[in-house]
Amino acid sequence: MPADLNNQITTDNGNPRHIAIIMDGNGRWAQKRLMPRVMGHREGVKTVRKIVEYCAKQQIEVLSLFAFSSENWRRPQAEVNTLMELFMMTLQSEVDKLDENDIRLRIIGDKTAFSDKLQAKIAQAEAQTCNNRGLTLNIAANYGGRWDITEAFRQIAVKIEQGLLQASDINEDLVNRHLSTADLHEPDLFIRSGGEQRVSNFLLWQMAYTEFYFTDALWPEFDEALLSEAIDSFRRRQRRFGHTGEQVIKQS
Ligand code: IPE
Ligand code: IPE
Ligand code: MG
Repeated sequence: MPADLNNQITTDNGNPRHIAIIMDGNGRWAQKRLMPRVMGHREGVKTVRKIVEYCAKQQIEVLSLFAFSSENWRRPQAEVNTLMELFMMTLQSEVDKLDENDIRLRIIGDKTAFSDKLQAKIAQAEAQTCNNRGLTLNIAANYGGRWDITEAFRQIAVKIEQGLLQASDINEDLVNRHLSTADLHEPDLFIRSGGEQRVSNFLLWQMAYTEFYFTDALWPEFDEALLSEAIDSFRRRQRRFGHTGEQVIKQS
């Protein structure tokens, strides 16, 4: 069913409930400073820390961050290796802090491609924080929107094969429940840093009615003030979900 006007689409303070961000521009940030691209990734982790803290404080329910796409394996092996190491090190150094701040960590994406050690760390981090009730921090790693939709259909097909479902049971709600974001409210606000204006295979299904915001700031330069600008822009928009503007005003 399409999102309905009766759905609560913002938190009580008018903030988006779910913010999804493509953290782009790390490589260019480093190159501009004549540094290797990986230095940009290291700097980018600092921005992640700031933005997570800010979202937790603003009582955002879900923050989804695109950390590594299913296409990023195409990068030079050395860069991929560094990104994997950085992912592992960041989990090791940050998970206790996330836990102390009541943040629930989730990793979405095809985790089977990661080393056993990284998969074990991810499982441990998710288990450690799974009962937390503050911000849900949803990290997309080896994630692709097409992968997510394909996986959902594979799971549905298996259930049909097993006789648990019939083709006539397939509807949008059923597909939703088989996505990696099944229990999360869909993104209200999508932000991409780094100047590119594309989705790059992020949450394709989930962003059908998301508000888009692009900034030229490279990810290591992105900060609380820029996020606050994006949220202000979101607050000024009228979300219609197919209705007319007049209908929306009447219902609000
Ligand atoms: C985003 O920054 C981080 C990842 C994709 C892992 P980039 O590395 O894509 O930075 P640019 O776009 O090359 O500047
Ligand atoms: C998207 O950024 C993926 C992440 C930020 C993890 P890319 O830099 O990989 O996207 P393209 O290749 O420019 O579309
Ligand atoms: Mg990029």
